[in-house]
Amino acid sequence: MIEYWESRFKNEGEMWKSEPSDSAKNALRIFKNARIDQILIPGFGYGRNARLFIDNGFKVTGIEISRSAIELERADGIECKIHYGSVNSMPFDDEKYKGIFCYALIHLLNKPERRRFLVSCYKVLIKNGLMVFVIATKDTGLFGSGKILSRNRYEIAKGLKVYFYDSDSVLKEFSDFGLIEYKDFEEPVKFMKGEEPVKLKYVVCKKNVNSLSV
Ligand SMILES: C[S@@+](CC[C@H](N)C(=O)[O-])C[C@H]1O[C@@H](n2cnc3c(N)ncnc32)[C@H](O)[C@@H]1O
Repeated sequence: MIEYWESRFKNEGEMWKSEPSDSAKNALRIFKNARIDQILIPGFGYGRNARLFIDNGFKVTGIEISRSAIELERADGIECKIHYGSVNSMPFDDEKYKGIFCYALIHLLNKPERRRFLVSCYKVLIKNGLMVFVIATKDTGLFGSGKILSRNRYEIAKGLKVYFYDSDSVLKEFSDFGLIEYKDFEEPVKFMKGEEPVKLKYVVCKKNVNSLSV
């Protein structure tokens, strides 16, 4: 995993350009409505989404496994704390977060890692805090390509392992963590002309008394 991302950021730089994703813009609205202004971004990348939140007055902390991605972020002058390491090693400190925005990361993990990651996110979230996950779905054309690793999980390129969610698996994996909403979401690919939008799922969770106590 680390080798895959490290070599991509090293060789391709800011591969999705600098504009934030529509998913992040949507999350910004959700967080603002909930008066949330301090978030964790696991799988930070080089900060294209973080910048949107920072520009809107949020305090942002990141977690990122690729040193090259962090260097790109630093070169861009984005000012926030980033923990260098894997989400598998969470937590990195004692900080609690009002919100979590996680774009295209959880589906890169295997089943026990996904569960452990959600437990870790939930633990670092304050009560009534919100988590937004943007995740791969079986509806995308990529589903079924490459080498099958386990049910709905494929190595779609060398070193890139992806778990593809459907409604059942969203319910199964997120219900213990205050799942309040999930929907299909089409992410426009603005950095490539003529490209079809990417089909994703948008998952929102809220930490409350009825969900798993971790
Ligand atoms: C698909 S990219 C999305 C990047 C970023 N969220 C964005 O939208 O610009 C996934 C990111 O997660 C990072 N990553 C992958 N596995 C990770 C792990 N186990 N812990 C922390 N970061 C990880 C990768 O280096 C990469 O930056």
